Amino acid sequence: MPPLDLTADDVLTTTRAVRKRLDLNRPVERELIEECLELATQAPTGRNRQRWDFVLVTDPEKRAALADLYRLGLARPRQQVVRDGVNRGDLVRGQRIADSAQYLYDHLHEVPVLLVPCIRVQGRHENGSHVGQANTWGSILPAVWQFMLAARSRGLGTAWTTPHLHYEKEAAELLGIPYETVLQTALIPLAHTIGTDFRPGPRVEAKEIAHWDAW
Ligand SMILES: Cc1cc2nc3c(=O)[nH]c(=O)nc-3n(C[C@H](O)[C@H](O)[C@H](O)COP(=O)(O)O)c2cc1C
Repeated sequence: MPPLDLTADDVLTTTRAVRKRLDLNRPVERELIEECLELATQAPTGRNRQRWDFVLVTDPEKRAALADLYRLGLARPRQQVVRDGVNRGDLVRGQRIADSAQYLYDHLHEVPVLLVPCIRVQGRHENGSHVGQANTWGSILPAVWQFMLAARSRGLGTAWTTPHLHYEKEAAELLGIPYETVLQTALIPLAHTIGTDFRPGPRVEAKEIAHWDAW
């Protein structure tokens, strides 16, 4: 399927966290996912080591088990997300995210593909140095976002989530991931979107976050 007719700037400004508009009834073609992976692997990594692995879960029982771990990790999703919104001074937006997050909470097991992006490490990094951690995260998250942008340009929706990482070990057992040497970094639902029209999201103004020459 050809990518949507979007410019690079369109893709960069309209790749939203998609939850309610994930098409739960339409399978995602493997070729489309492979195209997204090809594009993801053009992302930068420290010393170009490319220690990444992408686990794509389509098996219904495994998706259900993974969704359960997400739900366990996000025991009180509504309160948590509303608080995030309040922190940004936007209660209405916070409530909208909370409703949307609740939908994902309820339907995650129905999303046709659950992606768990991983990175290989010498050992668990929980007590690693700041620089080491920065290199690890910096060597996987750009590729994940690149995957998500590529997905958007192909009519697929994604949303970054992390709560299942509270139960990373259980997820590793479920998926056969070697826990001691492979870190899971997120859980990304992936599906065709219902409609392809998305708008830029509300964000702080760029000029508010720029610090020229000093903080
Ligand atoms: C590190 C991180 C963790 C997130 N965790 C969740 C999550 O657990 N559940 C969820 O539904 N969305 C989650 N999100 C999605 C954010 O809520 C979303 O990116 C943000 O609200 C902006 O949404 P928008 O791009 O649609 O404007 C997460 C995003 C990031 C970057």
